[in-house]
Amino acid sequence: MLYIIDSANVEEIRKCVEFYPVDGVTTNPTIISREKSDFPSLIKEIRSIIGPDMMFHIQTTASDAESIIEEAIALKRTVGGNFYIKIPISPEGLKATMELKKMGIKVTMTAIFTQQQALIAAKAGADFVAPYINRLDNIVSDGVHVVEEIVNMFNLYDIKCQVLAASFKNVEQVHKVAMVGSHAVTINPDLFDKLVYHPLTLYAVDDFATDWENVYVDNSVLDLLKGEANGNKGIKAESMKSLKPLTLKDSEENSAEKK
Ligand code: E4P
Repeated sequence: MLYIIDSANVEEIRKCVEFYPVDGVTTNPTIISREKSDFPSLIKEIRSIIGPDMMFHIQTTASDAESIIEEAIALKRTVGGNFYIKIPISPEGLKATMELKKMGIKVTMTAIFTQQQALIAAKAGADFVAPYINRLDNIVSDGVHVVEEIVNMFNLYDIKCQVLAASFKNVEQVHKVAMVGSHAVTINPDLFDKLVYHPLTLYAVDDFATDWENVYVDNSVLDLLKGEANGNKGIKAESMKSLKPLTLKDSEENSAEKK
């Protein structure tokens, strides 16, 4: 499954690209307008951060087919690389999609709320459809179920279009669309941090550090390995309690101290 960053904030994008295995960036007019920046400079900077190979989905603000096509061509020329024009679904959007596909411009059809919107977008040639999970959940619908049926339909009819699930507010929504076969998710940078966080992981890492320090004090794995290569000259030997393994008694005392 592809992980895409749903943001136009350059610092957030830089951080996600550095720390997470991301596949691209999606924006929409709301996300762009939050940055209050010069639009052409902003999208060029995002492209320079993510490089030419990562997907960059930028949304049109036009509503008639002719203007959508013009915007798509201009945006592709400006950012280059692996570019997708995001088009909200509408009859004009579908007309533009069919034309853009002939011109070799990739399309993500967005603001999808029903299975049939997704199917007709795929038939028009969209490369991705973007159903909005949280916005569906907010109206007591079921975003995950909509994604599940779209994925099933695409499999049933052997349609190449992929599902790029969007609009998430929590980890559970991301997990559930992954389990029903969504090809991609686009999530905000905070949610990337939440996907990775778990308090038990922090406890486990803390315990590992304490147990290591009880024997090797402040020597790291690398200190010890370098020490071996240098005939132990590199080891901070004076700060090491003992190179002997702890006895069972020592271990029991350590765990009693911890309790
Ligand atoms: C995708 O690019 C969508 O525009 C976006 O995920 C919508 O998210 P929201 O419902 O949080 O505004």
